[in-house]
Amino acid sequence: MKLNSNYDNLKQNYLFATIEQKVAEFKANNPERELIYMGIGDVTLPLSKSVTEATKAAADEMATAAGFRGYGPYRGYGFLLDAIAGYYAKRGVDLCHEEIFVGDGAKTDTACFSDIFAKENVIAVSDPVYPVYFDSNIMDGREVVLIAATRENGFLPMPSEDLKADVIYLCSPSNPTGAVYTKEQLKVWVDFANKNDALILFDAAYEAYITDPSLPRSIFEVEGSRTCAVEFCSLSKNAGFTGTRASYVIIPKELERDGKNIGKLWLRRQSTKFNGTPYIIQRATEAVFTEEGQREVAEMVGYYQENARMLVDAFTEFGIFFTGGVNSPYIWFEAPKGKTSWEFFDLLLNEVGIVSTPGAGFGVNGEGFLRLTSFNTHENTARAVELLKKVL
Ligand code: MLT
Repeated sequence: MKLNSNYDNLKQNYLFATIEQKVAEFKANNPERELIYMGIGDVTLPLSKSVTEATKAAADEMATAAGFRGYGPYRGYGFLLDAIAGYYAKRGVDLCHEEIFVGDGAKTDTACFSDIFAKENVIAVSDPVYPVYFDSNIMDGREVVLIAATRENGFLPMPSEDLKADVIYLCSPSNPTGAVYTKEQLKVWVDFANKNDALILFDAAYEAYITDPSLPRSIFEVEGSRTCAVEFCSLSKNAGFTGTRASYVIIPKELERDGKNIGKLWLRRQSTKFNGTPYIIQRATEAVFTEEGQREVAEMVGYYQENARMLVDAFTEFGIFFTGGVNSPYIWFEAPKGKTSWEFFDLLLNEVGIVSTPGAGFGVNGEGFLRLTSFNTHENTARAVELLKKVL
């Protein structure tokens, strides 16, 4: 037998697996040292009361003959589709059940979505980029073109006349840079996709961090997007579901490419390869969209935003170039003294015990930058600021 040789074209490890390995080695050699984790974007606050109560109630329901559920509907339970549609309706985006697909994470959904694309499609991603978009297409053997996200374009690349791409991944607020597209900028992308018969895959995983009301939280706030875009969103960064797992994909029912309906193809793919997010988790997710659940989300996001503000203030005081931190849980900053990303990653780890993410891990244009997350306690963030002062 033969294995998928496209895997030979990947870096040896997934970025966060490399970091995990480096941190494990450091800890083995320095068992007495305490670390502050600001690397992978993993939340730290416990699940909210609404979520845990809904989880327990659903578990109790499953323990009764009348309430037990086996396989669920492929696109998700109606009660959750209603809740998601209600969430979008508040922003003036009308969705019907056939346009919503419940999943178990935006990572899974964005990575698996490429199952429905032909091998010969050209994929465009920004550089730097969330590695999942890039790696999953390399695994399938597709050509991936990189669109430079730089200090000069505010880490918000726009389409050029000569861009040849069939599928375009956009993440806004951006992972890793925290930059956010305006409605006008997204409209340029939407027009480009409609004109060139391309498809935009819009990752809105960090939308809850947008505080500026003029910035779009969904690509469907942009005119013309229903004929060219699919949106992905996750419950990880807003409701703290990194370990609980829930997400949704929005595919407008009229969206077609290559003479075929995208939503129908995705349903075909999901019903063949996925048996759905567990009922208990779908009930927990439904609770997130209630009035009380949304109040709790605002509180959790607000807590992390306060950490982000501490980091923004610190980097402003240090006089170091950075983006993000506002409308985003990530701070993207320039490594001082001309150090490479990995050199400064090592320095932060070894000298002050801060785990960061090297920008180079997100692409060539990330070289010379690092990412810190605000997913931590206020105490640890304040301590990190003091430690950063020592090395910056
Ligand atoms: C990140 O740190 O970039 C994210 O947490 C990764 C993810 O959401 O999968």
